[in-house]
Amino acid sequence: MRNRSLPGAAASALIAIAALLGFASDSAAGAAPPNPDVTVSVTLPPERQLFKDGPGAGLARANCQTCHSSDYIYTQPPLSKAQWLAEVTKMKNIYGAPLEESQLEPIAAYLVTQNGKT
Ligand code: HEC
Repeated sequence: MRNRSLPGAAASALIAIAALLGFASDSAAGAAPPNPDVTVSVTLPPERQLFKDGPGAGLARANCQTCHSSDYIYTQPPLSKAQWLAEVTKMKNIYGAPLEESQLEPIAAYLVTQNGKT
């Protein structure tokens, strides 16, 4: 009985030591500072929908994608030009989009060509 339990205890101790060593080397590797010589490349998912070409597209690209994607525009139900103007005005007045007064109408005119109704 004694002879049989001793090797078992020794094996358990060895496993415990191995686990401790493994854990110690893992945590040492995790704490290593990032290597500045290693280049990591990350591929971001493509944006699903970008503002399509047309008069005013540049304005929309420059002013509407800073906070959210163009999906916000294309996934709305179609809006009239007046509704798009109200939407763009809301982005300026409520959400703080840095738009000039003179840009609101041209952007609304573009948006109604993208997702509009009469
Ligand atoms: C300063 C940040 C900002 C800019 C710039 C901006 N938006 Fe938004 N937009 C928001 C926020 C915040 C919401 C609300 C997000 C939400 O509810 O999840 C929003 C939501 C929207 C929606 C969804 C409907 C709604 O009213 O919530 C539309 C459409 C939209 N924006 C259009 C535009 C257009 C067009 C432009 C360019 C003229 C624009 N946004 C520029 C911040 C911005």
